[in-house]
Amino acid sequence: MAQLSESVTLDREGDVAVITIDNPPVNALSWHVRQGLADGFAQAVEGGASAIVLICAGRTFIAGADISEFGQKPQGPSLHDTQLAMENAPVPVIAAIHGTALGGGLEVALCAHYRVALDSSKFGLPEVNLGLLPGAGGTQRLPRLVGVPKALDMMTSGRHIGAAEALGDGLIDEMVEGDHDALRNAALAFAARAVANNMPLAKVRDRDEKVAEARGNEQLFADFRATIARKTRGFLAPEYNVRCVEAAANLPFDEGLQVEAELFRELVTGSQSAAQRYYFFAERAANKIPDVPKDTPLVDIQRVGVLGAGTMGGGIAMNFANIGIPVTIVERDLESLDRGLGVVRKNYERSRSTTAEQVEQRMSLLTGSTDKADFADCDLVIEAVFEDMELKKSVFAELDQICKPGAIMASNTSFLDIDEIASATSRPESVIGMHFFSPANVMKLLEVIRGEQTSASVIATAMALGKQIKKVAVLSRVCPGFIGNRILAQRRFEADRLILEGATPEQVDRVLYDFGLPMGPFAMMDLAGLDIGWKAETSKGSTVRDILCESGRRGQKNGRGYYTYDPETRAATPDPEVVAMIREFAISKGYEQREVTDQEVLERCLYPMINEGAKILDEGVAIRGSDVDVVWVNGYGWPVYRGGPMFWADSVGLPEVVAKIREYGERLDGDHWELSPLMEKLATEGGQLHQFSN
Ligand code: 3HC
Ligand code: NAI
Repeated sequence: MAQLSESVTLDREGDVAVITIDNPPVNALSWHVRQGLADGFAQAVEGGASAIVLICAGRTFIAGADISEFGQKPQGPSLHDTQLAMENAPVPVIAAIHGTALGGGLEVALCAHYRVALDSSKFGLPEVNLGLLPGAGGTQRLPRLVGVPKALDMMTSGRHIGAAEALGDGLIDEMVEGDHDALRNAALAFAARAVANNMPLAKVRDRDEKVAEARGNEQLFADFRATIARKTRGFLAPEYNVRCVEAAANLPFDEGLQVEAELFRELVTGSQSAAQRYYFFAERAANKIPDVPKDTPLVDIQRVGVLGAGTMGGGIAMNFANIGIPVTIVERDLESLDRGLGVVRKNYERSRSTTAEQVEQRMSLLTGSTDKADFADCDLVIEAVFEDMELKKSVFAELDQICKPGAIMASNTSFLDIDEIASATSRPESVIGMHFFSPANVMKLLEVIRGEQTSASVIATAMALGKQIKKVAVLSRVCPGFIGNRILAQRRFEADRLILEGATPEQVDRVLYDFGLPMGPFAMMDLAGLDIGWKAETSKGSTVRDILCESGRRGQKNGRGYYTYDPETRAATPDPEVVAMIREFAISKGYEQREVTDQEVLERCLYPMINEGAKILDEGVAIRGSDVDVVWVNGYGWPVYRGGPMFWADSVGLPEVVAKIREYGERLDGDHWELSPLMEKLATEGGQLHQFSN
């Protein structure tokens, strides 16, 4: 066996050369892998191999380019040269695939003459999620194998397809059952057959039939663009991917490659991809907790309990049923229980990805009850009753009597103090916050809140469970609103004040929507319901929200809030009556009315969020700046092509942000604009918020 570089070896199995990549954890195409591949193909051919098998060790085939090398000085041979050596090899090259063949990994496999894959393997071009397009010929080769519509779908969604689908599409030539040895043997057998039968050295680049079907068909591309327009608003990469596939359909291969290279260069040097690549690592960093080592023992979660089957409880329960964990749901009476379970069933039935059989199978995992004693065999109970401290303390005291030793007791509270809740129990080490976002079965974010005494094992279990239920978990310490809602509250405060000074709800929302957020604060409040937390008895006419509620405006649910809603389409229309009510109220409170610029709206909504994020870091509530970004991208739809609020602030420049915060602080209420000392320090020293770590 020859060691070609630190991560690539070459050995022989009879006449067949076997090149093995072993670059943990995911066999990314780091420079030494490319070097080893280039040498391996050259040496295999020189050594007279009859065929070449390319296979990977460890958990997966190549998962793509090494993302950490982007933006660094290039080293070693280019991927393109490596691919040419494969595709032009004078003997059959067979890629043997297990795990995931993603991005550059799939592009390498597309340069083999044949592909053999385990039935459990997956394939995708997820570059779009990094603000990129496949830059190693994938945009030209994939459509030649799977056709234009499928390639468009895979490249603009980044979705992975399974081996059976890949076989049906012609992406792979053979599917193998079994383990890694079975794969290796099947690839060797394929190689022997290819040699014995003189099978052609099939180059994907030479295939034309599938792209020819779309040649000159502008309508096909126009229709596809229309289908993704809403979902991809603001992103450059999806459109660039479409242009590459258009080139694949309409141009000769080499010209298509040139289009790909030019558009790739534009994206990889642009700000969107820089933000999205940063975000890729940010999300993975969020899992790492300095004082909770990786090998911390976890609590074994076999059964979950959920208390309260309202808006949140039902969705929370669905997450566990979806991965086969049985759930006991307890409500205060049968009527509420039936209503809650009914909503869960409806949600499953409405979901396009759940078959009728799956609906029944998942519903069968949910056991309803009105007796908390039924939580006795649960390993984790998540409380989702009304947001009321006294109620939460009383149910936690009860849970303390019922739950078995070692069981985790979690609260889904949005704002309340986990330590105070834990004080109602005899085991604060078992109490934690698991803050899901609404709708809890859909939103990806899970804020995990550690109390003063929460044990490492309980923290590690909550974080690991988050990953298991396909959420992105971020750890926070206790403070009102934790990371996400505490920052949101700052934006809301300022948005409320802007409309008193002369901006309209529609203007504020438009500015934030154009920035890339899914909706602005007023549309968001209408969606949640204006009367959440509103008490008619105590809050008479003291805010705009109060006067809207008093006049019967409750938000989307009754068709009238800051906007008026079409009962059929739910489309929002700005309402002059609301604007007049706001004006009258503002004048009565002594606010001078003026024209507010869009730029001011943007700065006044976003800079207090940055400032609060910095305070959250200063207090050690979040571990690192990137965690704040992960919360805002997953929980509130901050556009990932702007990285997150901390990353964005750094790209604006902290000195600039600090100067503006000072300026607004002098003009407006000083407390609300009080500058974070951490941000001031970083701005002075040239530091960055998104890289800050406690
Ligand atoms: N480059 C560098 N590091 C990578 C990487 C990559 N392409 N993919 C994963 N990693 C690292 C992760 O950062 C993580 O590191 P850590 O343990 O230090 O945090 C480790 O590998 C394991 O990753 P995950 O935690 O994500 O492991 P999972 O098992 O959950 O998922 C995976 C594995 C599905 C392969 C997932 O990591 C993934 O989706 N990776 C990215 C795939 C991708 O985007 N490929 C395209 C790259 S761009 C490209 O190829 C350009 C080309 O067209 C020229
Ligand atoms: P909800 O009012 O929709 O549901 C609460 C449910 O708890 C009701 O069905 C009620 O019958 C039940 N309940 C009340 N007391 C009970 C008791 N003693 N025993 C059993 N069941 C009881 O409220 P929602 O919106 O689901 O909120 C629940 C919790 O989740 C709150 O702490 C809230 O702050 C938090 N949260 C809410 C979010 C939202 O967007 N609605 C988002 C994230 C967290």
